[in-house]
Amino acid sequence: MSTTGEALALVDLDEDGIDRAFRTQVLDGLAQPHKAVPARWFYDEEGSRLFEEITRLPEYYPTRAEVEILEGRRADFARLIAPGQVVVEFGSGSSLKTPLLLGSIDAAAYVPLDISGDFLRASAAELAGKFPGLPIHPVEADFMKPVVLPAAVAGRSKLGFFPGSTIGNMVAPTAVDLLRSMRETLGEGAQLLIGMDLIKDPAVLEAAYDDAAGVTAAFNLNLARRINRELDGTIPIAKLRHVACWNDTWARIEMHLEATEEIAFEVSGRRFTMAQGETIHTENSHKFDRRSQYTLLLAGGWTPVARWLDREERFSLLLAEATPPRNAP
Ligand code: AVJ
Repeated sequence: MSTTGEALALVDLDEDGIDRAFRTQVLDGLAQPHKAVPARWFYDEEGSRLFEEITRLPEYYPTRAEVEILEGRRADFARLIAPGQVVVEFGSGSSLKTPLLLGSIDAAAYVPLDISGDFLRASAAELAGKFPGLPIHPVEADFMKPVVLPAAVAGRSKLGFFPGSTIGNMVAPTAVDLLRSMRETLGEGAQLLIGMDLIKDPAVLEAAYDDAAGVTAAFNLNLARRINRELDGTIPIAKLRHVACWNDTWARIEMHLEATEEIAFEVSGRRFTMAQGETIHTENSHKFDRRSQYTLLLAGGWTPVARWLDREERFSLLLAEATPPRNAP
């Protein structure tokens, strides 16, 4: 394949090969009055596999709706996305979506960024098979921080690709920070193609995050299993229950792990307790309308250029351009 050797490794592992940030964030999160663990830690090997399974569930519409847009709007992309750009994908888990984009535009190179090195190498190899002439430069990195892109793509204009409504995992201040850091990573004259899920009937949203087959429940519980596996945890998995609920004030689906009875456990030698009904907050999935999308993009330094919906108007894809620096009024 036409990748430049090994992925650039920027993730900090301890002697046991465990991500140091995982241990710190789990211990900090469990020590808070409202226990919470950041959603990014769902995606170990099993979690990534379960998420792929979620994307095929009848209740989980976002992936199908976004793919419909990517397939149906090829002509728009070819017209609005400048040729010869370097495509930088933030979180390269989407084996389905990337080829659709790369097939519609004339990209100079592809830079997938991901925290999971194994996943990154696998998807880079798959992509290389589909686009033999395309230079691919995988970077193993946490894209929440500004990333130094490989020297091979310096001096070229960039298109950021951030599908799947992953931005919805973040509360607004964090989402704005990320958009700003993307703008910094991608530089002047960059474009950004970003997927954002839409506000809709809470019953439809809750079903999408609590499917009948129980795959989302398994995905959520796998986080507790991962803590047990990697951080010497003793969390009693059988006494946790998956909960997904719509929070209208925040316009988001929340996922929690709720204790069905009083429990006590250890993680990395530290002791924690949960009362019956107490939860560990594991994910937020914010939903948007057009105005909240524009406000978020503009606050992050991106000017909206185009917006597309699927036929059933459940999901949206937006194209934005880096707002040029100027004196604000
Ligand atoms: C990958 C963050 C977009 O919020 O819909 C799916 C993750 N969690 N089902 C989402 C997820 C439960 C997903 N994102």
